[in-house]
Amino acid sequence: MSILYSPENRLLTLHTRHSTYQMCVDEYGFLRHLYYGERADGADFRYLLRDYDRGFSGNPAEFRNNRGVSLDTTPQEYTGFNAGDYRVPALCAVHADGSYAADLRYAGHETRPGAYSLPGLPAAFDRSPDDSATLVVTLRDTASALQVRLYYGVFEERDIITRAAEIVNGGDSVIYLEKAASACIDFLSGNWELLHFHGRHCMERQPQRVPLSNNVQSVESRRGMSSHHHNPFTILCAPETREYSGECYGFMLLWSGNHKTEFEKDYLNSVRVVTGIHDSQFRWNLGAGEHFFTPQVLFSYSASGFSTLSHHYHDMIRWHICRSQYVHKRRPVLINNWEATFMNFTTERLLDIARQAAELGVELFVMDDGWFGRRDNEDDGLGDWFVNENKLPGGLNPLIQGIKDLGMSFGLWIEPEMVNEASDLYKAHPEWALTVPNRPPMYGRNQLVLDMSRKDVRDYLYNCFAELLRNYDISYIKWDMNRCLADVYSHELPAEQQGEMTYRYVLGVYDLAERLTQNFPHVLFEGCAGGGGRFDAGMLYYVPQIWCSDDTDAIERLDIQHGTSFGYPPFTMGSHVSACPNQQTGRTTSLYTRGVVAMPGTFGYELDLNRLSSSEKDEVRLQMAYYKKVQSLIQNGVYYRLNELEEQERYSAWEFAAPDGSEILVNLVVKRVQANAPLIRLRFKGLSPEATYALEDTESRYSGAALMTGGYTFPMFWGDYPALQLHFTRVD
Ligand code: GLA
Repeated sequence: MSILYSPENRLLTLHTRHSTYQMCVDEYGFLRHLYYGERADGADFRYLLRDYDRGFSGNPAEFRNNRGVSLDTTPQEYTGFNAGDYRVPALCAVHADGSYAADLRYAGHETRPGAYSLPGLPAAFDRSPDDSATLVVTLRDTASALQVRLYYGVFEERDIITRAAEIVNGGDSVIYLEKAASACIDFLSGNWELLHFHGRHCMERQPQRVPLSNNVQSVESRRGMSSHHHNPFTILCAPETREYSGECYGFMLLWSGNHKTEFEKDYLNSVRVVTGIHDSQFRWNLGAGEHFFTPQVLFSYSASGFSTLSHHYHDMIRWHICRSQYVHKRRPVLINNWEATFMNFTTERLLDIARQAAELGVELFVMDDGWFGRRDNEDDGLGDWFVNENKLPGGLNPLIQGIKDLGMSFGLWIEPEMVNEASDLYKAHPEWALTVPNRPPMYGRNQLVLDMSRKDVRDYLYNCFAELLRNYDISYIKWDMNRCLADVYSHELPAEQQGEMTYRYVLGVYDLAERLTQNFPHVLFEGCAGGGGRFDAGMLYYVPQIWCSDDTDAIERLDIQHGTSFGYPPFTMGSHVSACPNQQTGRTTSLYTRGVVAMPGTFGYELDLNRLSSSEKDEVRLQMAYYKKVQSLIQNGVYYRLNELEEQERYSAWEFAAPDGSEILVNLVVKRVQANAPLIRLRFKGLSPEATYALEDTESRYSGAALMTGGYTFPMFWGDYPALQLHFTRVD
């Protein structure tokens, strides 16, 4: 049983395979958090709590005389604001009389088999009936009809606990929510560090590890998107935690908009984590009888380092977050024309690129930005989703037919959420754009953002794209989003509801994504936001892959993919071989190195292959054949990071292991070759210790145990950014 309740001491215990999570209801109805960590069967952790009266900390009314409990030192599951807990709150509710208060006490709980869903929001799902179980604990405000339902989804085999909150207004007057986090968790003690993933356009998800100090640190985005700058995935770890040892906890939001995860180390060195939607520019009118659902967050614990934690999230995303059939299907090797032509192309020019690509083994041709409206530059076209016949005379058919005649399938770039002021759409519907009345708009890439909270906008977009998908043989769509939100104001909503827009926008995006992906399940969708500006588990519920970054430089990509891999599996990362010198950095790397770096993602090319020399073309042919040979191992294998964070400056190494230990693919790229350098020796993972392995293209044989303990010593490297792939297969 993964969810246990013991009525005599009002203990609620959740078990996953390797972790235990426990809370209790005390005699006054506070839902106290007791423990989250290594699995501990039969434990009753109430003894860990020692209550004292602390100076300048609030005593609830029940303790007025004996002052037995200070609320801001009591570990809790979900806390309201202005009720004596001075730490970061999970909920901030304002009642109709203007009072800020929520004194939340236990009112009951229920357990049920299977996963819970959240209306309009992504949520982890079951593949078979006993994959998960759900606990719902109801808390009730002592003096109003405000209720909070806390959802806990226990995916026992995956070592994941999902959490979300439903806020219910059971009264007859409005309640304003000014903050509604998905979850709160208190760690009684421990010397924790924060590992978070920050970045910028063209350098997303860079790991940064910092000690917690006695204040609040937060990882947040106010850009309307999960952002290039701060990913909604964070890790709390012990100072000694490494890739394969030490304790760590992960917090991953299934949310693609403004988010905030706060880490507060309080005056007694306890640590509180509160995670969810951002409270900035958020004010939700919860009318009588209404419910508000927060996004879901995935908690996970590992006692054996970051790698294990990553495996929990990779498996969870593979099996319980991504719904696309392509997660379990071989993905086509694609070619995208963006870096080859930008918006300057014709049918003939594209077919020219496609012909060479088909000849070398590429399977899918993707036409990127520039095919619609009057889209000759960034100033026009967005919103006008009809074919630009100046570039594509006769429309899409001649191009698609040409591509199909080459034996390839066809894909298209779209940017649904945006509009250019010069477009016909904007002229017809200026009120569909997010703009603040009487103020000049804030531009990004000379485009405005459509009001995705509006049903008419979503219907228009759905009809445009559904018609394309119905009328043409399109097997792939790249859904881009090329600016952050500003001027978040809806011309449809009344003044008092403008504080709902940051949330409603994302729900609108999810609604359109739901309709398109569910009604056209045969289409492979790839997410994108100026590269990886919306790379999050919320989007992965709808699309199985996301363009990882606009930076296609192989050496930069090593850092981006490495950071991304902490939370997200490689099969979600769009990754292409592009031309050299690289368009973003001017750096030159070998075709071989570029291939090694692009292969761990969803492999493809983004250049005009006609421009390669004939020996380079031969190399591409071999590269693609090699990729197709190891593709299933890459897509379905277990991913291991082979070197620690601090070694990433010199080299990057990773491995894919078949789940049954039958083969592994080791990858190494040296970023900085040095004279007389120490040799690189790495221990491999995921082999069967008793088995013997052959190294491809050699006569060498190794024992699995030896490769995992003694490891493997690499030769000395020479030149700029050398790379090596080693494929070992089991021979006995
Ligand atoms: C974004 C994407 C690119 C490309 C351009 C087109 O920057 O990340 O891959 O599609 O838009 O405008």
